[in-house]
Amino acid sequence: MPGNPLIELAPSILSADFAHLAKQVQAAAEGGAGVIHVDVMDGHFVPNITIGPAVVRSLRKTTALPLDCHLMIENPDQYIPDFTDAGADWISVHQEACRHLNRTLHLIRDHGALAGVVINPATPIETLSEVLDIVDYVLVMSVNPGFGGQKFIPGALRKIRKLSELRAQRGLSYRIEVDGGVALDTVTEVVRAGAEILVAGNAVFGKGDPKENAQRLLKAATEATLQKV
Ligand code: DX5
Ligand code: ZN
Repeated sequence: MPGNPLIELAPSILSADFAHLAKQVQAAAEGGAGVIHVDVMDGHFVPNITIGPAVVRSLRKTTALPLDCHLMIENPDQYIPDFTDAGADWISVHQEACRHLNRTLHLIRDHGALAGVVINPATPIETLSEVLDIVDYVLVMSVNPGFGGQKFIPGALRKIRKLSELRAQRGLSYRIEVDGGVALDTVTEVVRAGAEILVAGNAVFGKGDPKENAQRLLKAATEATLQKV
């Protein structure tokens, strides 16, 4: 399937079968995934615990796709070098978790990864105005972080639109990623709003074949870009 260069699907392994991670990631890649989204949770910033650099290191050996590490952790500065050493290509940190956001974003870049900033559903995009020129991507949470399979919060659409307008107004080049509740019933509106990197956990790994699920989602996303103009 000829992908749309603007749109990338980033399956989140949070909903994958961890005992068969390599296989599941491979199936998602065959379905057209452009990036693999890795949800890192510490049980403090969010009420759940997942995985860390050791799993990133193992994943790195099984796929050539970029690994997009979404850090839902307190004190991310302490762990950024561990993630880049393990093979993380992209690292995003929460605005809400960083006391010195500018420093943290530079730290990510200095370690050779693309730097992203993430905002929770209750955080306005205005809080990002001073860092938009030093990020490679902005991740808009469309659920409260912590769990897969939650319902999409529609307020994210306005934020995505606004980020897309701001980028044009300020002549910037960050990409816009969306995370949470992205599935066949929401993908059209997120793409029309301007999202370019689509995280999907449950919709890819929840049930059925990850390859077919990824293909179906990407097809719907691509069709939405055609209807955009
Ligand atoms: C939520 C995570 C998401 C999650 C998305 O805290 O950041 O990446 O895996 O899962 P779905 O697509 O199932 O909403
Ligand atoms: Zn995520």
